[in-house]
Amino acid sequence: MSEENLKSMNDLVAMCKRRGFIFQSSEIYGGQGGFWDYGPLGVELKMNVKNRWWRAMTLRRNVVGVDSAIIMHPETWKASGHVDGFIDPLVDCKNCKARFRADQIDLSASCTNCGESGTFTEPRDFNLMFKTQIGPVEDSAATAYLRPETAQGIFVNFNNVQGTMRQKLPFGIAQIGKAFRNEITPGNFIFRQREFEQMEMQYFVKPGVQMEAMEEWKQARWKWHLDNGLRSDHLQWEPHGPDNLAHYADAATDIEYKFPHGWGEMEGIHSRTDFDLSQHQQFSGKNLNYVDQLDGNKKYIPYVIETSVGLDRTILALMCDAYRLENAGDKENERVVMKFHPKIAPIKFAVMPLMKKPQLEEVATKLFADLQENYLGEYDVAGSIGKRYRRQDEIGTPFCLTVDFDSLEDNSVTVRDRDTMTQERISLDKVKSYLAERL
Ligand code: GAP
Repeated sequence: MSEENLKSMNDLVAMCKRRGFIFQSSEIYGGQGGFWDYGPLGVELKMNVKNRWWRAMTLRRNVVGVDSAIIMHPETWKASGHVDGFIDPLVDCKNCKARFRADQIDLSASCTNCGESGTFTEPRDFNLMFKTQIGPVEDSAATAYLRPETAQGIFVNFNNVQGTMRQKLPFGIAQIGKAFRNEITPGNFIFRQREFEQMEMQYFVKPGVQMEAMEEWKQARWKWHLDNGLRSDHLQWEPHGPDNLAHYADAATDIEYKFPHGWGEMEGIHSRTDFDLSQHQQFSGKNLNYVDQLDGNKKYIPYVIETSVGLDRTILALMCDAYRLENAGDKENERVVMKFHPKIAPIKFAVMPLMKKPQLEEVATKLFADLQENYLGEYDVAGSIGKRYRRQDEIGTPFCLTVDFDSLEDNSVTVRDRDTMTQERISLDKVKSYLAERL
């Protein structure tokens, strides 16, 4: 049997649309660049990943969660440096009006869109934050921003969380939520979007121990990606050297995934010093010091290790990694199969009566209801059994359970494994434990 990994993003985009994972946003109006909608299977996949991240964070005794507002006080973004510094240099092609990030193209070469040479405008600064206004009066005093990262919602709640949860250093605050960036060149499917979701955690530590904490989080985050089923040879570290370290960071590294378009950042792990809390203390005038009772009530601003992973990029990596084309070109045996880790798979099982016959459906419906108490499944009675298997393979369902005429005699079903396609007979009363062991 031959097996190919995903070769082109277009194949994945087509599968996602065909099977209900991800759709172009506002598709009936022609779509909107940089925005995507998750369909019924995509949203389940997303939920599974979010839950795994949330549990990995908050099951630690010293990490708690928040869910802060998307629109924050505009001063937040002055303090964080985004108003002045969250800027990309932008150029336009004078001929075709296509826009590019000046740092991503060769300004002395021809336009990659229309082929004209020497047509670029001078680079000008473009702030990536989406602006909006609060209240009915459109003046600059009412200007607000859609958050470009969830992190600042954590920093401004530092005192609230530390006080109410009686946290002692080291402790972390986790948040999952939408972020918005008016990217000049969105693309590569959901890799670079204008609206996306982040899963961020800020870990507050005593100054001086940040490198130790960073090492601990690097290991934990790498392991998390492997536990989701990503192949280790598709992951790499990309440490930031002194030239590309943000001005507030004293160390930073990314976890990159090998996407079809090349290696790309999926997660950043940054040692952000006391920059953010110090800035918020200065801009808000509120005291954000921590009183260290274990160190003679010394007061200081904690240092921070941040882990920041894109939910959509994690989903993209998981889908690229899971995608397999088997027996390409062999019409009878060709299949696309999404080899998701069973814990990630959106649908865990499918129950299929061999035919649309009341006796079979009676057993199948009962089995389905019984399993659905614990796992999300599909009930499929339409079309040939081969076609039904192919559909479940393509959406990554680990187990298909077929009820046939023998089932009426022996109270057993055929369980088919997605990856090996092997089939075994399992007694109806053992199916639940069979799935429990494997899911
Ligand atoms: N708080 C730190 C921060 O926001 P970042 O490197 O700008 O750092 C963190 O973003 C993660 O968010 C990235 O590693 C990536 O996974 C995701 N991300 C950033 N911009 C994105 C975009 N335009 N579309 C999708 N995901 C994005």
